[in-house]
Amino acid sequence: MNDLSDPSCSDCQRRRFLRNAMLGSAALFTTSGAFAEALTKTPAQAEGPFYPDKLPLDTDNDLILINDKITPAVGEITHFHGTVRDIKGNPVRNAVVEIWEADSEGNYIHTKSRGNGKLDGNFQGYGRFLTGMTGEYYFRTIKPVPYTRRTPHIHLAVSVGEKNLLTTQAYIKGYKQNEDDFLLNKAPKDLQHLLMVDYQPLPGSKTGELSGKFDIVIGLTPED
Ligand SMILES: [Fe+2]
Repeated sequence: MNDLSDPSCSDCQRRRFLRNAMLGSAALFTTSGAFAEALTKTPAQAEGPFYPDKLPLDTDNDLILINDKITPAVGEITHFHGTVRDIKGNPVRNAVVEIWEADSEGNYIHTKSRGNGKLDGNFQGYGRFLTGMTGEYYFRTIKPVPYTRRTPHIHLAVSVGEKNLLTTQAYIKGYKQNEDDFLLNKAPKDLQHLLMVDYQPLPGSKTGELSGKFDIVIGLTPED
């Protein structure tokens, strides 16, 4: 039986995090649909060349552990989460959120990805999550690291049914290299803050885990 107060219990930390996320979502319920003005859509970003060319066998939302392996991925463990909303502020349910990300050495789950040479075989590199009524999604992954020519980022794609509604990238707020990143700078300057994640220590974590919130706004109709 797991003890939620045991800091060494990563499963407990995950559940504690989810419980806290749920508490936060109660407030969202009262405001959903109540946004007076249309929200700004999350800017799209290039898909890049490394969307997995062959999906891993494990595609769940925990990228730190592959299947029933016990060795975790190398990196700063991050609870990466947010809410998918439409431009009216309504949570979007049944949205599939996919993320893909380089491991701590800059390697993607892609046959052409070279990174820094050493592959972290314990990093899943890709995951997906189906949103429920609250529109929330959640991944456990690593804080992204820089690799050749790119500032750190996590790739995301959001689809509903067969339709891909957004492909973008989430960056680290305040990261120096952001200023010169050729892909980030394809987004208008005044909208780039919508692509930033403020990585903060996870409350209650004794192992230095982080929390990163990335809320997503998508257009559901061509008019949006
Ligand atoms: Fe990338």
